[in-house]
Amino acid sequence: MITIKTDEQIKMMHESGKLLASVHQELRSKIKPGVTTWELDQFVEKYIRKHGGIPAQIGYQGYKYATCASVNDEICHGFPTKEPLKEGDIVTIDMVIDLDGYLSDSAWSYGVGEISKENQKLLDVTKKALYLGIEQAVIGNRLGDIGHAIQSYVEPLGYSVVKDFCGHGIGDEMHEDPQVLHYGKPGRGLRIEKNMVFTIEPMINTGTWRMKMDSNGWTARTLDGGMSAQYEHTLAITEDGPLILTEQEF
Ligand code: MF3
Ligand code: CO
Repeated sequence: MITIKTDEQIKMMHESGKLLASVHQELRSKIKPGVTTWELDQFVEKYIRKHGGIPAQIGYQGYKYATCASVNDEICHGFPTKEPLKEGDIVTIDMVIDLDGYLSDSAWSYGVGEISKENQKLLDVTKKALYLGIEQAVIGNRLGDIGHAIQSYVEPLGYSVVKDFCGHGIGDEMHEDPQVLHYGKPGRGLRIEKNMVFTIEPMINTGTWRMKMDSNGWTARTLDGGMSAQYEHTLAITEDGPLILTEQEF
């Protein structure tokens, strides 16, 4: 069931999203060679709690960490580890924050130190894909318009769209209806309505979109060992267009 939010609920979700955005802004200067994703996770958990929030991923279906930290060929749901990040790595930090019962969800990919031109291009293309998807999130459009905008941008550039994971409604629960696919046909799928709140979170690979699951039962990585990146925002559909609840200040 899709829940349409009230203006008041969207305001509260925006507060949650602003806190989440500030975590990502803090992470920018912390992600560098030698740092571990374990340390980043500890920082994130403390920062969220210090600001009155709850790291909502902890305890979700048995997940143990405040963040998912997915390095290089890991697509999503990487566990934070005590392995230091290396110059040239790319790492996606994904988290969900609960602030006063209102959830927000945002993932961001970061380069570690100096990264290769190829990796930088993957990050740029994946971020642009997210924003092209968001542009389509307007009243009267359909979910297929979002998926199509993403897929038709990245595939001609030689990248692939992961099909096993999708965006989702969000509110007082992390995963609500609808599912928001990152591929599709224009004019197809659910009609987008005012005051829906959902995420768009494309995972884009350099090689095949197919994945394999690690033995931990959580971490998805690319089947061919290619690199993978992801950017995710939580957004509300308003009469003035999509309002990005987790937007960072640049
Ligand atoms: N943040 C993820 C998403 O985008 C959810 C991660 S699942 C969890 O939907 F178990 F790690 F919380
Ligand atoms: Co999400």
